Amino acid sequence: MSKRRILVLHLAFLVFTAIPPVVYADMCFECHSGWEDESGSPSASYESDVHFRAGLGCADCHGGNPELDDMDDVRRGRGYKGIPRPREIPGFCATCHNDPGYMIKHNPALPTDQLDKYKTSVHGKRLLEEGDEKAANCVSCHSVHNIERPQIPASTVYPLNLPEVCAGCHSDPEYMAGYGIPASQFDDYAESVHGHALLVEKDLGAPACNDCHGNHGATPPGVTSISAVCGLCHALISDEFAVSPHKAAFDEMGYPECEGCHSNHLVLEPELYWIGTSDSSLCVDCHSADDGTEGLAKAEKIHEIVLKLKKSYETAEAKVDESELKGMMVTDERFILKEITQAMIRTRTVIHSLDFEKVSEAAGEGLEKADQAYRAATTKVEEYYFRRKGLGIATLIITILVIALYLRIRSIDKSHPLR
Ligand code: HEC
Ligand code: HEC
Ligand code: HEC
Ligand code: HEC
Ligand code: HEC
Ligand code: HEC
Ligand code: HEC
Ligand code: HEC
Ligand code: HEC
Repeated sequence: MSKRRILVLHLAFLVFTAIPPVVYADMCFECHSGWEDESGSPSASYESDVHFRAGLGCADCHGGNPELDDMDDVRRGRGYKGIPRPREIPGFCATCHNDPGYMIKHNPALPTDQLDKYKTSVHGKRLLEEGDEKAANCVSCHSVHNIERPQIPASTVYPLNLPEVCAGCHSDPEYMAGYGIPASQFDDYAESVHGHALLVEKDLGAPACNDCHGNHGATPPGVTSISAVCGLCHALISDEFAVSPHKAAFDEMGYPECEGCHSNHLVLEPELYWIGTSDSSLCVDCHSADDGTEGLAKAEKIHEIVLKLKKSYETAEAKVDESELKGMMVTDERFILKEITQAMIRTRTVIHSLDFEKVSEAAGEGLEKADQAYRAATTKVEEYYFRRKGLGIATLIITILVIALYLRIRSIDKSHPLR
């Protein structure tokens, strides 16, 4: 064999192996593409399906002999499964996805536990145990003939798209009637800090429905798991809560840890009035002045010190703004303001320990910095007035000198001998 022939063969081999598996030879796909309406038909949308890219044909899911060129023959032939009923779908998808031996050949990293987890979910129990076909099955969330990897933005289970998919059923009061649960989860979520962060700001760090409910095990997190759910992302706060007197008390009452004060779907931006003794505070929901606990006394003290920190920050910030407006450099002061913001976040975090010492320590750092920023900005404002005063005096002296000079020149002019 000449070197040239070897090279050509090599190239041919490379080209051959680079071509995606030929699905077009599949008679199912070929015939269906021929008569189906283009848009939305199984074969048209199937070309953008992850299974198509993995080299699977229609028959890999629906069964039947892909070499036959007649649908009736296909139906009569062995192994044709037809269209699965909703309750058959989990088992239908799981023939491959629950089979590690099969999946490892395609993608060893892909978990094979979807059906097992699905069975533990409210959806799975309703559908598989009670035959309630209104519960979500695999294709309710993943779509069909258009299934994509979750990481791809076009996927129905991509974080930005998923809430709408759940809302398709859960926000439809008619569809959900009879279950005795609200149909407000999506609307509440969309209004929450989380929904705003994800859906408006496209912040993928914010939770979508599945981050709290699980992908396949969709169940309302239980009393014990809910703090773990919030704590996945709010770890520092969860740690502070864990050492607070509320931890044991809430566990005993069977009371959800974070949700009781923050809600589950309508999580709003926290406000200072939440803690304190006013009628609108959260604390008075459970505590009263004579309940024999230090609850309200601490609520009052914590409220006061956090309020003081907030006010000090505002005063310092106003002074820094004033100084900047007068044209002074305030880079250092702005940096200190940022440090105060950090201290404020730390303070709001340790509030969850209900430990006044801890809160006042965190707030104390902020108060000190606020004082520092205020003093530095005040000095700059004073410096400005000092410079302005100096400039005024200098201008006055120069003006007097100019007038004197002018008068002098005039007197010289008048008395000039050559005039
Ligand atoms: C020669 C054309 C042709 C071939 C080949 C073909 N189909 Fe079909 N198929 C049809 C038509 C047309 C229908 C619409 C129902 C009808 O009128 O028979 C259909 C219906 C279906 C349906 C709807 C359910 C049903 O039973 O009616 C499924 C699922 C299906 N085909 C899958 C397949 C699979 C899988 C293959 C390959 C193993 C295949 N088809 C091969 C033409 C074809
Ligand atoms: C990954 C598995 C899978 C593959 C691959 C697949 N299907 Fe399906 N197909 C399903 C499931 C599941 C349903 C039932 C969907 C439902 O209940 O909404 C379905 C429904 C259908 C239906 C009836 C409903 C409809 O959308 O018209 C037809 C026809 C059909 N498939 C044809 C095909 C053809 C043709 C191909 C190849 C181009 C194909 N399917 C490939 C899983 C698959
Ligand atoms: C015939 C076997 C088979 C059946 C049946 C099947 N799948 Fe798949 N599925 C695969 C293969 C193979 C892949 C590609 C794995 C890869 O390359 O990552 C895949 C990939 C996927 C992925 C993307 C996973 C990822 O992150 O890469 C999803 C989602 C998926 N399938 C859902 C379904 C659903 C839902 C059904 C039922 C309607 C179904 N599959 C039926 C074999 C199958
Ligand atoms: C209630 C909605 C829902 C249902 C029902 C559902 N899935 Fe998923 N599925 C998801 C979400 C959400 C993800 C992952 C998204 C992510 O990782 O960000 C996912 C991911 C996957 C993946 C990628 C690998 C993995 O486990 O992360 C596969 C494969 C898959 N699902 C198959 C199935 C199968 C098979 C069924 C039915 C037994 C099913 N899904 C039912 C929502 C659902
Ligand atoms: C096809 C419609 C449908 C889709 C899509 C759907 N669900 Fe459901 N879901 C239901 C039905 C029906 C129930 C049963 C209600 C019940 O038993 O209270 C349910 C139950 C639940 C429950 C348990 C409620 C309870 O009573 O405790 C949770 C949690 C849940 N779904 C979350 C989700 C999430 C998260 C998604 C999206 C990833 C989703 N669902 C998508 C129909 C759907
Ligand atoms: C930040 C976490 C979180 C997010 C995000 C979240 N949920 Fe929930 N969800 C919960 C908690 C906690 C409960 C339990 C409520 C209880 O037991 O009182 C719950 C309960 C539910 C229930 C049971 C009925 C009810 O309202 O109590 C459904 C259905 C539900 N969620 C659906 C959704 C859907 C759909 C989305 C997305 C639009 C979503 N959830 C987003 C935490 C979350
Ligand atoms: C997947 C991660 C994740 C989970 C789970 C999560 N959060 Fe969040 N949370 C975030 C992110 C990210 C933000 C910041 C949003 C923003 O303002 O940009 C946030 C913001 C908040 C805020 C507002 C903070 C502020 O300073 O305005 C509160 C309160 C909150 N979450 C409470 C909860 C509660 C309660 C739970 C459980 C029911 C929970 N979170 C579950 C990621 C998460
Ligand atoms: C007893 C009521 C209560 C409970 C229980 C509670 N919080 Fe808070 N949370 C508050 C108050 C009060 C604030 C601060 C309000 C302020 O000063 O602006 C706050 C603030 C926050 C913030 C904002 C912090 C920041 O940086 O601005 C987050 C996030 C948060 N909580 C998450 C959680 C999580 C997660 C849990 C459960 C582990 C939890 N909370 C339990 C009352 C509560
Ligand atoms: C859901 C009800 C509930 C809410 C809301 C609540 N608490 Fe409590 N709190 C309790 C219970 C129950 C105890 C335990 C009382 C006991 O040990 O007898 C407790 C204990 C305490 C304690 C320890 C008291 C002691 O004497 O050791 C403090 C401090 C406290 N709470 C502060 C607060 C503050 C501040 C708020 C508002 C941000 C608040 N609580 C909101 C139920 C609540």
